[in-house]
Amino acid sequence: MIVYLDGSFIDHAEARVPVDDRGFLFADGLYEVIRVYGGRPFLAEPHTDRLRRGLAAIRIDAGAAHGLIDIAHRLLEENGLVDADAIVYIQITRGVAPRKHAFPEPGTRPTVYVTTKPHARPANESFTDGVAAITVPDTRWGRCDIKSIALLPNVLANQQAKEAGAFEALFVREGVLIEGSHSNLAAIIDGEIVTYPECNYILGGITRRFVLDLARESGIPVREAPIFLDRMDDVDELFLTGTTTEVMPITRLDGRPLGDGRPGAIARRLQLAYSEVAVRSLAAPT
Ligand code: PDD
Repeated sequence: MIVYLDGSFIDHAEARVPVDDRGFLFADGLYEVIRVYGGRPFLAEPHTDRLRRGLAAIRIDAGAAHGLIDIAHRLLEENGLVDADAIVYIQITRGVAPRKHAFPEPGTRPTVYVTTKPHARPANESFTDGVAAITVPDTRWGRCDIKSIALLPNVLANQQAKEAGAFEALFVREGVLIEGSHSNLAAIIDGEIVTYPECNYILGGITRRFVLDLARESGIPVREAPIFLDRMDDVDELFLTGTTTEVMPITRLDGRPLGDGRPGAIARRLQLAYSEVAVRSLAAPT
């Protein structure tokens, strides 16, 4: 596989980052994951906009994000993925400098790394049958809206889910279900979609916003409000949204079936609506 690193297109095996990179030393950087359907980056602009906003928030020059979609297209081409379902992974760090907490000297070049790899749609049975989730305490920092590469709480939570035979771990803060370790969460309560409001406690998911727009267009009301863990009896459906997860019904929570243990009708409807638009995007000009 060919990757992009700091201005060069090189073989993955040859890609090297110095040990003084601040991504390695401090997790001082951001990342982005963009979905590709049939060789076409999906919702590329909102993803790169979020990356630019993140760079501004952590004070890395936004110039580092210049031309990323062209780079992604070239990588898809070089890696034989022009017709493939794939993902683009982008990581930008504050660059290479002797280890000191404060920012390095002005003029230190951010490290920019971009890869592409094949990525299949979620396995059919999880898509149609739903997945299991567990709840874990939200031990993350107070700026979860920044797509930081510092993902240790997410890694630990996801591993806990995996060991419990679950697909996702849901972070709980003060009795409220916030989001997953790598996806956003929504519930259906009284026919309404309820999902935690966009703020510093969640990543403002591109898929979340896209799916909420799809829901509003098809007349499903949306309320951005907390989902309380001790009110799960009121919850008719739960589902996840995310770039790699798409729309995924949750059918088991902490080892117990949710409702009748089958994916809910609204989650299924949104899954299908998402698939239709994603596939239709193949026909649209990029
Ligand atoms: N994860 N919340 C968290 C904590 C995430 O890491 C992600 C995405 C999302 C969903 O955001 P979006 O719809 O923009 O993908 C929500 C990516 C895919 C990852 O870490 O691989």
